[in-house]
Amino acid sequence: MSITLTFHGQSCFQLNDGTHNLLIDPFFTDNPVAKIEAKDVTCSHIAITHGHFDHFADCESIAKANDATVFAAYEICDYLHEQGHEKCEPGNPGGRIETLFGGISFTQAFHSSSFKGRYMGMPCGLMIEFAGAVLYHAGDTSLFSDMELLGQIYTPDVAMFPIGDRFTMGPEMAAVAAEMIGAPTAIPMHYNTWPAIEVDVKQFAPKDIEVLVMEPGDALELSAE
Ligand code: NI
Ligand code: MN
Repeated sequence: MSITLTFHGQSCFQLNDGTHNLLIDPFFTDNPVAKIEAKDVTCSHIAITHGHFDHFADCESIAKANDATVFAAYEICDYLHEQGHEKCEPGNPGGRIETLFGGISFTQAFHSSSFKGRYMGMPCGLMIEFAGAVLYHAGDTSLFSDMELLGQIYTPDVAMFPIGDRFTMGPEMAAVAAEMIGAPTAIPMHYNTWPAIEVDVKQFAPKDIEVLVMEPGDALELSAE
């Protein structure tokens, strides 16, 4: 089966197999590198790593406009319920949710999570089973040694790592993370959106792993069994 993977800048990706259309960490409004606007996004599902605005700000409007199911931390789902969006699937690190497209597992991330001053639960990474492929989206995180274990357990095909430094790993640490996760393909994210997270992407050079640099707006086909 063929999967289209689209990158929208920062940590926002979209997976589409023609039937299911999963949006990850929607951030279009106020995203200086996004090529499209939130109102033009279509999706059937949304997965959120944590509540910071650069991962979550457009979730509510897009979820409502598309009647999309949102997978997120318990506290984020609580917030969305209060805003009148009922289609939420809450989770927390360690848990897996069976979905129409495969599954979503929440993994740990070392970071914080808040939105408009409100606590938004544990920040997470996501292990996404989508149409036969397994993708790891690290969310915003530092390096942690359990990444090796996550790689062994889930054996992802593709992994996305934040490399912008300051709020997350920088490129050198992210390269170590990519080696620990061990997915054959690694995609850098969360960099060059603003001056504070400007880095040279060439410094993200994990050993024996293919680095796929996507520009905002880029789409590519992944093949899965
Ligand atoms: Ni964050
Ligand atoms: Mn962030």
